[in-house]
Amino acid sequence: MSACAREYSDMSVEAYATVMAAVADGHRGAPDGLSLEIGTSRGGTALGALQQLRRIYGPEPPPFITVDPYGGKAHYRTDTTACLDGATGRGIYSESFYQHMKRVLAEFGNHHHFSLTSTDFISALLARANLWQYGKPRLLSGFAYILLDGDHNATTIDLEVVHLYPHLCSGGVMLADDVNHDPKTVPTLRARGLPFELLLDGRMAIWRKR
Ligand SMILES: C[S@@+](CC[C@H](N)C(=O)[O-])C[C@H]1O[C@@H](n2cnc3c(N)ncnc32)[C@H](O)[C@@H]1O
Repeated sequence: MSACAREYSDMSVEAYATVMAAVADGHRGAPDGLSLEIGTSRGGTALGALQQLRRIYGPEPPPFITVDPYGGKAHYRTDTTACLDGATGRGIYSESFYQHMKRVLAEFGNHHHFSLTSTDFISALLARANLWQYGKPRLLSGFAYILLDGDHNATTIDLEVVHLYPHLCSGGVMLADDVNHDPKTVPTLRARGLPFELLLDGRMAIWRKR
């Protein structure tokens, strides 16, 4: 795996390696399942995951979906080269992140980007929308791998988990990054009763569906 893919992500080496291992584990447990990444930024984790899928499946890997509305979302880190919002002086995920993602993922025919918030993507999934690939429709369900790395507040992560977990295949893996960003996130998730483990000093949550 290219060092270069990780350079396009803000994740630490350990966090990035955990995500890549989850892609392989999920697809080992649920072969041919869909993959979903909420929150794609410059495309770092998506690029590494797409490279993994190509290694696992060869030239026709199953669909990999990214969901990110871009456009002025607040950047949580300060030590980055993020564009600055002229009004607030805070870092934002600007259009340049979107363009970077498009460039680095362009060669992967199984990549499908949705410029939506996760809430709107979930509405499409609940409406039983079909995704087309290789000339065939495929219900937006049956995920082998899901990464939640979009809006890091407790309410949004909870909504994503509640609606997406039922669509995770048995044998599939779901991760949520930065669950320590909002102190309400872990207690809210625990109250849902869907068992998960915390990794990386409580930063990342992982669900392994049996
Ligand atoms: C931490 S970055 C993702 C980093 C990426 N996974 C990586 O490591 O390469 C968070 C991204 O989530 C997006 N985002 C923020 N709110 C969102 C929402 N409600 N739904 C989907 N994406 C969202 C932001 O635009 C931003 O690009």
